[in-house]
Amino acid sequence: MNVEDQGSDDQSLAAPKVTVVETYDAMSIRAADAVIEAIRANPVGAITVPTGSTPVGMYKELVRKIVAGEADFSQVQIFCLDDYLGQTPSDAASLTKLLIREFLEPGQIPDANVHYIPTTASDPHAAAEAYEREIHEAGGLDLAVVGLGPNGHIAFNEPGSGPDARTRVIDLTQESRDQNAAYYDGASIPEQAITMGLGTILAARRIVMIVSGAAKAGIVRATLEEPMSSNVPGSWLRLAGDRLEVVLDRDAAAELTLPA
Ligand code: GLP
Repeated sequence: MNVEDQGSDDQSLAAPKVTVVETYDAMSIRAADAVIEAIRANPVGAITVPTGSTPVGMYKELVRKIVAGEADFSQVQIFCLDDYLGQTPSDAASLTKLLIREFLEPGQIPDANVHYIPTTASDPHAAAEAYEREIHEAGGLDLAVVGLGPNGHIAFNEPGSGPDARTRVIDLTQESRDQNAAYYDGASIPEQAITMGLGTILAARRIVMIVSGAAKAGIVRATLEEPMSSNVPGSWLRLAGDRLEVVLDRDAAAELTLPA
């Protein structure tokens, strides 16, 4: 039986930690604290952080701490999580552009420590495999912070993605392209992206998933409470057991039925 098709029960796994806080700002501060904990534990380690609107508050808090001298990212390796094929940071829809604007630049992260998604490689498939090796060579990820897409995607692991998926080129769903077009005044969104795989993310020593807002309450419930399945790729993160912390604001947690 193919567990990915059938869905999977996780009764034998340790439960993820689910932290429900009142507000978006509280979610952002908890996520920033998790990043700081990881880099204090290993100041020369590697982390990945997401794009999208959800982490913007986390970046504000991290930049505040860096500027105040409370956090030292000078030797931390930052791996980007995903981006559109063919986009560079000077293009309208680049996800990396958001990361540069919200975090890398104001946080004065040394460019030599940033690992960009190879969106313009002449052979993107080979470049994605090389990116995966780069993560391995950096000693693996100490922490992966991820958001949750409205269709349950993690990074750009779209529905159909299994837990063993590694960094690769992926075809985007129309739903995700429409979601992202809304961020860029309807700019045209490429049909493909390079994304870290769920398996790559699951290999991180710690995983923090952040979700905010009532619009995601249904997909949060499916992610945490329905059988794990590639229909909701985020559900596979439960395979991390208690290495996974899910940080939700009150609105995103509104449809959970199990006690946190
Ligand atoms: C985007 C990104 C993901 C992000 C997700 C949620 O498409 N590829 O990395 O986590 O969708 O975005 P948002 O936080 O804006 O809801």
